Amino acid sequence: MQFTVFFLLFLHSVWGVKDYLYKSCDNSGFCYRNRHFANQIKSKDDYESRYSLDIDTLSVSAGQLSAIIVKELPNNLPAVELPLSITILDGGSIHVKIDEKRDKKSFSGKIVNFNRYDEASKWAFQSKTLSSSNSSAVIEAKSENGDAFYEYSFSDYSFKFELDPFKIIVARQNEIQLIVNDQNLLNIEHFRAKSENKNHLTPEESDFDSFSDSFADAKDDTIPIGPESIALDFTFNNYKYVYGIPEHADSLVLKDTTSSDRPYRLYNVDIFEYETDSRMPMYGAIPFLLASRPGSSLGLFWVNSADTFIDIDKTSDVGSTKTHWISENGILEFIIMVGSTANEINKKYGEITGYTQLPQLASLGYHQCRWNYNDEKDVLSINSLMDEHRIPYDYLWLDIEYTDSKKYFTWNKDTFPNPERMLKELDHTDRNLVIIIDPHLKTDYFISNEAINKKLTINTFENKPYYGHCWPGESVWIDTLNPSSQQFWDKQFEYSKRNEFMGRLSTNLQIWNDMNEPSDFNGPETSSPRDSLHYDLWEHRSIHNVYGLSYHEATYHAMIKRLETTKRQRPFVLTRSYFAGSQRTAAMWTGDNMSKWEYLKISLPMIITSGISGMPFAGADVGGFFGNPSKELLTRWYQTGIWYPFFRAHAHIDSRRREPWVPGEPYTSIIRESIQLRYSLLPVFYTAFYHSSIEGTPVIKPVFYESPEHLENYDVEDQFFIGNSGVMVKPVTEENAASIEVLIPDSELYYSFDNGNALPNATTVSGPTSVTKSVDLHTIPVFLKGGSIIATKSRHRRSSKLMFHDPFTLTIALDKNGNAKGKLYVDDGESFDFENSGEYLDIEFELSNDSRSITSRVISSPNNLAKELVDVVFEKIVILSDGYLQDYESASVEQNNEKKAISVTTEGKLITLANSKISIISDWVIKFGEEDIVEDIKFDQVNEENGLHDEL
Ligand code: GLC
Repeated sequence: MQFTVFFLLFLHSVWGVKDYLYKSCDNSGFCYRNRHFANQIKSKDDYESRYSLDIDTLSVSAGQLSAIIVKELPNNLPAVELPLSITILDGGSIHVKIDEKRDKKSFSGKIVNFNRYDEASKWAFQSKTLSSSNSSAVIEAKSENGDAFYEYSFSDYSFKFELDPFKIIVARQNEIQLIVNDQNLLNIEHFRAKSENKNHLTPEESDFDSFSDSFADAKDDTIPIGPESIALDFTFNNYKYVYGIPEHADSLVLKDTTSSDRPYRLYNVDIFEYETDSRMPMYGAIPFLLASRPGSSLGLFWVNSADTFIDIDKTSDVGSTKTHWISENGILEFIIMVGSTANEINKKYGEITGYTQLPQLASLGYHQCRWNYNDEKDVLSINSLMDEHRIPYDYLWLDIEYTDSKKYFTWNKDTFPNPERMLKELDHTDRNLVIIIDPHLKTDYFISNEAINKKLTINTFENKPYYGHCWPGESVWIDTLNPSSQQFWDKQFEYSKRNEFMGRLSTNLQIWNDMNEPSDFNGPETSSPRDSLHYDLWEHRSIHNVYGLSYHEATYHAMIKRLETTKRQRPFVLTRSYFAGSQRTAAMWTGDNMSKWEYLKISLPMIITSGISGMPFAGADVGGFFGNPSKELLTRWYQTGIWYPFFRAHAHIDSRRREPWVPGEPYTSIIRESIQLRYSLLPVFYTAFYHSSIEGTPVIKPVFYESPEHLENYDVEDQFFIGNSGVMVKPVTEENAASIEVLIPDSELYYSFDNGNALPNATTVSGPTSVTKSVDLHTIPVFLKGGSIIATKSRHRRSSKLMFHDPFTLTIALDKNGNAKGKLYVDDGESFDFENSGEYLDIEFELSNDSRSITSRVISSPNNLAKELVDVVFEKIVILSDGYLQDYESASVEQNNEKKAISVTTEGKLITLANSKISIISDWVIKFGEEDIVEDIKFDQVNEENGLHDEL
C-alpha cells in the first residue's frame, strides 16, 4: 500500500496520464461482459430476445404503464422478474424504470444493502416527484399484424411501447426518431450465487470477472453481490451528431468508439495529468446525451450513479447514431425528452434536475488562484499589486497550504496568524477570499476523530472506518450520503464565536471543494474501493458518481446557514467532481490541465459540453495547471478565459509565478485589457446566467443553438455565443496565429466587434459562409449579430462590487431590416431577494426601424432595488448600422412624462447617442428626428469614486 502512495505521488510530479491505472472496457468485468453479449447478439440473425413483457402483469392507468419484464433463463431455471414502470412527464418526456425482484433469503447475510440502488434520482432530481400534470395522458392499447402494443401520443410525437421483445419507438409525424432496445442489447445481470453462476449463463453471456476483479489494484474487491450490471441500446435515427456525457477532454461532437477498447466512460476519478482527445473518465459525470439536427432534437438522461461505459456507433450509412449504455449496477432508469430545438431539451432537462444557480455577480469576475499564496503578507501583496497594475479582480484563492498540515478547518498559525485581519483587509478593497476544504480528513485530529466517533465516515466492506491516503497522508472520508453528516458539516462553517476556524471571519469568504471524486491515492483507480460502504449500507460501487455532488451540496447547505446568520448571500462553491444536478449548487472547473496549446484549445469544447449538459458555470485553469506557459500562450489563454463562465487563473505549486504583471509588456497590457473587457461585459454574462437559471440556455452557447437550420453549424467547437446576446466569439487558440477562419452561421448581418469595440469602420458580413480574418496578438475576434442589443459598463474599477452604480452603455446592431432587440437583467448581485421578493430588473429593449424608435420596458417590479438603482443610467447608446437611421442629427428621449433632447452623430457605420443619462429603472422611448424638444441634457461628469482604476 505504501508503495502505491509513493508511486502515485511520483506520478503526480512526473506528469502524463497513466492509462494502465484506469480500466478499459476489456479489463472492466461488466463492460467486457456487455460488449461480448452485444457482439454475440449482433452476429446472430435469428437471435430472439430473452426479455419480454408479461401481458398478464400489465396495468395501464392515466400517464402510467407498469408490468413485469420477464427474463428467460437457460437450464430450466425460473424466469427473473423485472418490474417495469413508464411514467409520462410534462412536455411529453417519458420516465422509465426497470428494477429486479430479488429474493433476500438467497443472499448469505453479508453486511451490504442487497437492493439495487435506486437513489441516483434522489441526488440528481430537483424534487422528489417529477412533475406530471400529464397524469391524464392516455396510453392506448393497439395492435398491428396481430402484435399487441401500447401507444402514447404527444403533440406530433408518438411513443410506441412494444411488448415482445420490449422496445420503445419514438416517432414524429411518422418518422422514427429513436428506438430503445433497437439492437436487443437490453441486459440485466440478475442475482445468482457464485456457486451457480455457470448454470445461469446463456450462450451469449461471458462470466469474465463476475465474482472477482483481475484489474491491477482492484483485486481486493469482494464483489459481495456478484454480477449485477445493466445495459441498453438507443438508436438515434437519422441523427449524425450527438453531444454531452461529460466529462471528457474530447471534441464537442461525440466520436465513434466501436473500434476502441475505451468507450466514453463516466467514473469520477482524479485523472492526474489527463490527455486531450480522450474518452477516459475524468472528475465529473453527467449521463445526459443530446441528439440534434435541423428541426428536431432528443435528450436521453441515464439516471445511474455507478461506473458507466457508453459505446457510440456511427458506422451507419444513413447517418444514424447507435449508442450502448452499460452500468455496473443499480436500477435501469432513464428519461427521454423530445423537442424541436436543443434548447427545448435543455429546458426539459432543467425542469427535472434543476437549472443552474444564479451565481453572485462577483463570482463572474476574475479569480486569482495558485497553489499556493504562501502567507498573509503574500495575499495582501497580491491584492495591492493588482491595484498597482490596474487589474480588476474579485476573488483571491487559498489552496491546501493555508492549513495546519492539511487539516481542514485549521489555519497554519505561522503563515496565517490573523485570518480575520486578512479578510477584513480584502473586504476593505471590495475583494473576497476562497479557501479549499477537501473531503479527506487527516487521521488523529479533532475533526476526523469526531467524524469517526459519530460514525460519519465511509467504511470498509466490514463496516469499519476506511483509512486511505490523500494530501495529509492517512485519512478518513466524510460520508456526505449520511443525512447526519450535514449537521456535523454545518458546525464547521458556522458563523459564531465558538467556531475558531471561521466563526468570526467576515462573510466575503467562499469555498472550494476539491478531490471529491473522491480521490484516494492508494485506492483502486485512485478512488475509494468499490465494496466500501456508505450510509444505509450502500456499496460505494452503486453511489460512486454522486459522492462528489453529495459533498459539495453539504458544503453549499452549510454555507447557506452561515450566510443566513449575517446577510443572506448566495454561497459560491467550486467543485471538481460533479453529477447531474450539481448545477443547482456549484460551479465546476476542468481540473489539472497543462500549460500547452492543446489544453487551451480543448477547454472550449469541454466547457461548451458542460453547458449543453446543464452545468454552464464552468471554467478551465487559465494558463494551464501543470508547467509554465510561454508569454504568448498565457496571453491567449486570458483572451480565451475571459469568455469562460467561470474565469480563474490557477497554477501548480511547482510552476513559476505568472500573475498578469509577470510577463511584462506588451503582454501585461493585453491581459489587463482582456480582463477589463470581461468586466465591461459582466451585465451580458449575468443576463445570460439569468436566462440559464430559468430556462437552461447554455451561457456559452454552441453555434448550432443560435442557428439550428444549417447542419454545417453542428460540429463547430471553437466558436460560440454568449447566451442569447448575439455576441459571437472565436478566441485565438493557435500559436503564432496571423489569421483565423470564422464561421458566419446564418444569413443575418454580423458586425465586427473585436475586443468589444463598436467602430465606424466595422466590417459586416452575412452567411452562411466562412471568412478569414487577420489577427495580431491584441486581437480578440468578436462579432455582434445584427438584431441584438447589449448593455455593458465601461468604467474600470477594482472589482465588480464597485461597478454597481456605474452607468451602462447600450450597443445596438441593426439587422437586415434595421431592427434589433435585447435584454438586461440586474439585481443586487448577492442576495436571494430576486427570488424571494422579486427584487430584480428584467429589461427588454427594442429598436424599430418602422417607428424610428428605441424602447426600453421594465417587465419586473422591484421595490427596494429600484431605490438603490435610482442613480444608475444609460449614459451612451451606440448603433451599428449598415444603412438605416443614418440621417438624423437629433433624437428625443421620453421617460416619466419628461422629454429631453439627445444629440446624434453618425460616422461610418456608427451612430452615437451621447450623454443620454436615462434612468434604467423605468420605461423610456427614444424617437429619432423629433423636433419639439423641451430641454437639452447636460452631461454631468460621473463622480470619480473610490475604486476607479482609470481616468474617464
Ligand atoms: C488538485 C487540484 C488542484 C489543486 C491541488 C492542490 O490537484 O485539481 O487544482 O491545486 O489539488 O490542492
